[in-house]
Amino acid sequence: MEISLQTTDLHEIKTSCLVIPVLKGKSIGPIAEGLDKKTRGVISKIIELEDIKKKIGANVLVNNCSGLKADRLMLVNSGSDKGIDEAEYRQILATVAKELGKLPATSVSSTLDQVKVLRRDNDWKIKQHARILDAELYAFDELKTKNKRKKRLSRLAFVSLDKTIVTSIRKSIADAKALIAGISLAKDLANRPGNVCTPTHLAETAVQLAAEYPALQCKILEEMDMEKMGMGSFLSVSQGSRQPAKLIELKYRQSQVEGQKPIVLVGKGVTFDSGGISLKPGAAMDEMKYDMGGAASVLGTMLTVAKMQPAVDVIALIPATENLPDGNASKPGDIVKSMSGQTIEILNTDAEGRLILCDALTYAEQFDPNVIIDVATLTGACVVALGAHATGLLSNDDQLSLDLTEAGEAAHDRVWRLPLWADYQKQIESPFADMANVGGRSAGTITAACFLSRFVENQRWAHLDIAGTAWNSGANKGATGRPVALLSQYICSQATK
Ligand code: BES
Ligand code: MN
Ligand code: ZN
Repeated sequence: MEISLQTTDLHEIKTSCLVIPVLKGKSIGPIAEGLDKKTRGVISKIIELEDIKKKIGANVLVNNCSGLKADRLMLVNSGSDKGIDEAEYRQILATVAKELGKLPATSVSSTLDQVKVLRRDNDWKIKQHARILDAELYAFDELKTKNKRKKRLSRLAFVSLDKTIVTSIRKSIADAKALIAGISLAKDLANRPGNVCTPTHLAETAVQLAAEYPALQCKILEEMDMEKMGMGSFLSVSQGSRQPAKLIELKYRQSQVEGQKPIVLVGKGVTFDSGGISLKPGAAMDEMKYDMGGAASVLGTMLTVAKMQPAVDVIALIPATENLPDGNASKPGDIVKSMSGQTIEILNTDAEGRLILCDALTYAEQFDPNVIIDVATLTGACVVALGAHATGLLSNDDQLSLDLTEAGEAAHDRVWRLPLWADYQKQIESPFADMANVGGRSAGTITAACFLSRFVENQRWAHLDIAGTAWNSGANKGATGRPVALLSQYICSQATK
């Protein structure tokens, strides 16, 4: 989607649809009032007839409105003139986006960023507006040959006549575009089927990003390299697959500050998770193509970061493999040695995410990270605990947890912290190895994080379990692009100002 800034008088704007907020209270709002004069009372007449429903976001479409150059005028119930809260604002944007998506409109000029939202600024409103509209228009149809959804609407413009804020609006628009690009990349990758989005495809995507953005550098490690480094845990998962595993290293170097330590992001890249020998049940197994949602969101974040150019160093690490049953696949009871030297008894080959992440976490240490954040569709238990709304957060560092929680609130890509007490560690003890890869039925999200915590003992580390948030199940199934917004927000908050 193209996003731009228009500095023309509203009635002079040529667009498929001009979107105007109408307020309740003492005034219908300065925008509606100004336009009412230009249209010789069309707006006040509609209000008088009570044609705009009471529900926030409810709207009326006026075609060919006299006095305007726009093809259509959309009047949107935008709540009280005293301001609305952010949930109400998102409801308005979602309702409007749905309406716009149905129209044969190619462009929209919106003034909804001028609605007063309590505790939120212009930058936030512009980003929310752009994201919600783009999400509505997104369709994964690159593999359809017919009946493709027509994506007619491709241009969003914000309007400002106030010269003093034009520069800051332009910056917000540029950031919103960067965010949308990252979210779309994450969605595309996670929506692609396992036969297209293989470990090699993820690696090629990273290589391409580095080719396009000079601030990015990419290195791909092959199975031979991993063998040399002793990544026996990671390789035990990939040995059941014919697709070669890849360890992707993508660096964003920006900070001018001498000795500043990087943020390391680690994304689980299981391009298809069948469960391996501990085979999953057949129902909805197709959805396990999104078991690389962590990798997808990390790559999406790197794209956003490359476009936004914050002054901070970021390194993305992605262990990528399939998890399949095969004559050479690892079996329950197998014991493998991780790069850290610790041994692991594989009691369930379906708990493969932690087996590939642990070696990537050990590998991360060489970069002397400020923090390590891993992102993974790790446990079904997290879907049970938090559903589709909150990403599970587990961490050995309170400040990092707080920073991520705040970034999640700001970006509306929220996390909820779960405990990581030592008490839970007992569940993954093994009589035969240093640890087992599963910890029984109870507290599955926590014991998975306990496992990972043993590989980052001297690091500030957080784990994001996105099993419930990276994907919409049901009729609207598909990738959500989460948590690109959260990670981008966090990274920008850490940039040297
Ligand atoms: N990729 C799955 C987790 C998952 C489940 C993600 C549902 C999204 C939706 C992971 O590899 C897995 O299979 N985890 C097991 C762990 C268990 C064997 C301890 C699970 O959650 O059942
Ligand atoms: Mn699994
Ligand atoms: Zn998995």
